[in-house]
Amino acid sequence: MCGIVGYVGSRDSIEVLLEGLARLEYRGYDSAGVAVVADGSIDMRKRGGKLSVLRESLDADVLPESGTGVGHTRWATHGGPTDENAHPHLGDDGKLALIHNGIIENFGELRAELESAGEAFESETDTEAAALMLGRIYRETGDLTLAMRRLVARLEGQFTLLATHADHPQLVVGADHNSPLLIGFGEGENFLGSDVNAFVKYTKKAEALGNNQIVTITPDSVNVTDFDGNVVTDNKTFEISWDAAASEKGGWSSFMAKEISEGPEAVENTVRSRIKDGLVRLDESEMFSADVLSQIDRIVIVACGTASYSAMVGKYAIETWTKLPVEVELAHEFRYREPAVTQNTLVISISQSGETMDTKMAVQYAKQLGARTLAICNTQGSTIPRESDAVLYLHAGPEVAVASTKAYLAQVVGQFLFGLHLAEVLGTMSDGDIREITDALLALPEQLRQTLETGKEVRELAHWMSDTRSVLFLGRHVGYPVALEGALKLKEISYIHAEGFAGGELKHGPIALIEPGQVVFVVVPSSRTQPTMHSKIVSNIQEIKARGARIIAVAEEGDAAVMPYADVVLRYGTTNPMLAGVLAVVPLHLFALELATAKGLDVDQPRNLAKSVTVE
Ligand code: G6P
Repeated sequence: MCGIVGYVGSRDSIEVLLEGLARLEYRGYDSAGVAVVADGSIDMRKRGGKLSVLRESLDADVLPESGTGVGHTRWATHGGPTDENAHPHLGDDGKLALIHNGIIENFGELRAELESAGEAFESETDTEAAALMLGRIYRETGDLTLAMRRLVARLEGQFTLLATHADHPQLVVGADHNSPLLIGFGEGENFLGSDVNAFVKYTKKAEALGNNQIVTITPDSVNVTDFDGNVVTDNKTFEISWDAAASEKGGWSSFMAKEISEGPEAVENTVRSRIKDGLVRLDESEMFSADVLSQIDRIVIVACGTASYSAMVGKYAIETWTKLPVEVELAHEFRYREPAVTQNTLVISISQSGETMDTKMAVQYAKQLGARTLAICNTQGSTIPRESDAVLYLHAGPEVAVASTKAYLAQVVGQFLFGLHLAEVLGTMSDGDIREITDALLALPEQLRQTLETGKEVRELAHWMSDTRSVLFLGRHVGYPVALEGALKLKEISYIHAEGFAGGELKHGPIALIEPGQVVFVVVPSSRTQPTMHSKIVSNIQEIKARGARIIAVAEEGDAAVMPYADVVLRYGTTNPMLAGVLAVVPLHLFALELATAKGLDVDQPRNLAKSVTVE
């Protein structure tokens, strides 16, 4: 939520800031702004609307060239997405510019204090209170780093802040509290950003700030302290493992289209290097020891959004393979109740970004309760893996579209890898059984490529359905979370009513929604490996068909039983029943993309959403 970038060096900072903001725009796209330090003053430009609006304004009326600046792309919390509420906000009579990600909970109190001291507010934001307060403290000290340290002591809530001051032409100061901030190290230049996208074009060397730290960058130095001013030297630097081009659209019409096409690669890169001689081999640095794993008696998976549906798919497999009870819980629900968690409970968090606040809080809570924590995450250097006891990184590559697609696939197979590893340690599966699954896992990328070939058919379907106002999704077993995911995608980017149901639940309520012409996607389990469930879902199909529904079946290749009842059949390849959720979701992702495209919507930046939800 909100993207932040800071720069000091010899390049034209506007260029660096706009480049960073373009790559961070998925974090928020309500409004955007930049401020630079030039000729002893702050020059600022900010605009409501997407980054392109700011860009046009800067093209029409350029800001002075400067090697120091900060930039922000916003997802509004306090105050609507107007020019005034866009960041940066100014303090110290316009000599200081501040940008912010997060929420300052005591801003009302600070605002009252500042107003009674004679400060005038120009916006409705919580951020402006921090900017004005920082300005006042700076006037007393003349030291921006020290002023930031004193400011953070006054703030409640969660925040990443970056500030720059006209008195210091080559300096940017940042602070973080329960909100991410990363440093990018260059030669004669340094960068700050909400994530590595902010600076990956310029440097691959990065470091994540720990919680409650302050960083001061100049072209030649980076100094980090804690909030008490003690120097910090133990943050770990890392090499960004992908190229800037990986987070560019290339020739694709949207990031979502590109990322759906990268699904096979995401699965391949996550799985291949971890399967040796048919068994799963996880690096010791990423996993608990066998001793620790054998003490686990229960698993709880916490996640939000698409990641939570991937967790529901993972649950079926992990429970079947390890014989351990596995629960899936939305992170924000887990966080605010009293779950029965012991030191033998493993709490697995699943997160593409590694920054989702709800998931992060759930992990912190699980640790407090004494559980062991494992992060399954796609983003290097992000907070959730750093705060967890162990981490299994996914290798889906950067995901930019708000609607998660390739990361979902990687999240599911990441859980499979862990489940097979645990099953081997616990002795609940023979090597032969494990090899059967790993063979199926290694076959997935090619099968995914074949499933992507349904694209043309799905496009025709979407065109035919572009005026549809409601779509239902039905599934059983792993097809149930796939149905939920299909419905979520449609809501997110097509803005139409969509619901997912478990097939068995149909007669308990949802069937009342069926009227002539209602479109229902049905995710059909394999007739070969799950014959009982298959025949149950075929009965479901008949029941809704009899009431006039239009059926789009997502069925295994060769399944002829659905043909007489389905209006359209989309196919997925034959695989192990636990793995079918990886293949069957692809037509649903494609459908959401094509329907939103047919409706002329912005599929990458749907209204009101952000990719990385860093506030509760
Ligand atoms: C947001 C995004 C979803 C995503 C969810 C969890 O709601 O819009 O696409 O699934 O956050 O994100 P995470 O980064 O934790 O996987």
